[in-house]
Amino acid sequence: MNGMLTPTQIHDAGEDIGRNASANLTMGDIINRRFSRRGFVAGALAVSAISATVSPLALLTAGEARAAAKSAFDFAEIEAGADENHHVAAGYDADVLVRWGDKIFADSPEFDPLAQTPESQARQFGYNNDYIGFLPLDGSADRGLLLVNHEYTNPELMFPAFARIEKDAEGKEKVTMGEFTRELVDIEMNAHGGTIIEIALENGKWKPVLDGKYNRRITVATEMTLSGPVAGHDRVKTAADPTGTKVLGTLNNCAGGVTPWGTWLMAEENFHGYFVGELPADHPEAANYARYGVPEGWYNWGKYHDRFDVSKEPNEANRFGWVVEVDPMDPASIPVKRTALGRTKHEGAESVVSKDGRVVFYCGDDERFDYVYKFVTDGKFDPTNPSANRDLLDRGTLHVAKFNEDGTVDWLPLIHGQNGLTTENGFADQAGVLIEARRAGDVLGATKMDRPEDVQPNLKTGKVYVMLTNNSKRKAGDENPANPRADNKFGHIIEITEDGGDFAATKSTWSILLKCGDPSIADVGASFSADTSKNGWFGMPDNCAIDNDGRLWVTTDGNSLKATGRADGVWAVDTDGEARGTSKLFFRVPIGAEMCGPCFAPGGETLFVAVQHPGDDGSATFENPATRWPDFKEGMPVRPAVLAIAKQGGGRIG
Ligand code: FEO
Ligand code: CA
Ligand code: CA
Repeated sequence: MNGMLTPTQIHDAGEDIGRNASANLTMGDIINRRFSRRGFVAGALAVSAISATVSPLALLTAGEARAAAKSAFDFAEIEAGADENHHVAAGYDADVLVRWGDKIFADSPEFDPLAQTPESQARQFGYNNDYIGFLPLDGSADRGLLLVNHEYTNPELMFPAFARIEKDAEGKEKVTMGEFTRELVDIEMNAHGGTIIEIALENGKWKPVLDGKYNRRITVATEMTLSGPVAGHDRVKTAADPTGTKVLGTLNNCAGGVTPWGTWLMAEENFHGYFVGELPADHPEAANYARYGVPEGWYNWGKYHDRFDVSKEPNEANRFGWVVEVDPMDPASIPVKRTALGRTKHEGAESVVSKDGRVVFYCGDDERFDYVYKFVTDGKFDPTNPSANRDLLDRGTLHVAKFNEDGTVDWLPLIHGQNGLTTENGFADQAGVLIEARRAGDVLGATKMDRPEDVQPNLKTGKVYVMLTNNSKRKAGDENPANPRADNKFGHIIEITEDGGDFAATKSTWSILLKCGDPSIADVGASFSADTSKNGWFGMPDNCAIDNDGRLWVTTDGNSLKATGRADGVWAVDTDGEARGTSKLFFRVPIGAEMCGPCFAPGGETLFVAVQHPGDDGSATFENPATRWPDFKEGMPVRPAVLAIAKQGGGRIG
């Protein structure tokens, strides 16, 4: 691993580079045409003229006589800020449900941070919880399976006497990693993947059920199958797997989804960071790997495991970057990498049944200047026949989004032989199109986005929300209609309206719900409603959830004392009526953490959230974390954890 930066910093730095060198949509002229038609230019000039003397928020005070627009949310907002602990709105409890190292099975070893082993980690809750899914068991509201991704590891916070803090030439503190032994690497590998754990309500509090028969750990060693158009292709055959159909493990599982038929989708995101070594410049995979940033060498696994060294196993990196389907109801089932959904740095894979029964999956490819995708199954969902849905994800059409200046979206199909996805352009077959989905998007003229993260359909309204975290690399003149800010430090949220409420539509319309950042600084260009308080605005939208009432909740990644003066958290965002664009802060994480995995239990009375990389303020180690959350015990490291948030005395959240 790079000894200069922490995994969180290099994760962000990797995303920061942007590897899309295609010429799509550098269109200052088009933007100008679009926005002048919408009166944007006049509006923008008016705002900057005003802001020379008065900030937009100050203007609010003048308008205070006006009644606040009716929000769909009813809770007392908390104060934005950052400290060692988490905070939730008054009248709610946020209880730790499961932490890194906790037992997942009745016979799991107790967590001993000073004597962790690969074997113990494989039986305990993994690191850096991200996506959370919930599946009710036996139709009960009091029992269910929690499905949790473990995206990555922070060895400097996990391992004692391993990392140290040093000062660089300018006197700035930096973390220097120690030596990665085989044992530490294998602990890291077993801290990745996912956890399935049964939970049950006891006296109004969710608790893990350690003898739950579905409990399972999935790691980088778990056997998986490749299915769909890429299965068995020469480009995914390796020395260990000459069939090109069997892969060991999944990694960098960021967000995900639960399908209408009750399986769990784990999205593989920054897989490039796990590969080391060099590929000759004339290697047939060289251009493909360059487009994905393989190998990036964040982790040292290739030192002990040849498959993570591209000079020794050049095809292994084609076996990651997929959406993995897991059947949580069968702990012996073999997870399946569904290649028909394409190979990208998948943030998540949320789904919805369209009007005609086909199932639609939305995926963001989280890198600066990459794309938004939608997969539509060929077959129809059959709620009465679970086995009929088993391989729905193997046949269908992947589309990539082109956001047009007239406010429409074209969903362009990634089909071999069509629209330039041809042998002449280096796509030998459909497998080639899917393995190099990014390059296929380049050829089709997809819109380069500001880091597409969660893409969430709202069944109640037929709308779809796209979280765009930020893009400080977008230069003036490189804006496009759907990504209108150069040096977009705080991100934005796009709302797509599917044609006629049909999620399978190939033509939609779009608008911007929110441009994020501090609305009191005119240069930021944020667009929160006038009713949004000084606590209510946020930057860097990342994950989101739609609750039972169709309301939008947004979680963030990248707020900090330095960036925004506030920790990441959960914000409730009005999308409809006069309150549209109003945001309120419901929960915030301890210092150094990111807010992941918002997931409502059915009934909407519990909100599960994942506190990822707490204490990681860029100069923290096992011995010196920025907080010892959630245990606050000397000798106990800071630990990522899942919390269950519920209203005291019960009732709907928010
Ligand atoms: Fe893993 Fe895009 O956040
Ligand atoms: Ca994320
Ligand atoms: Ca993130």
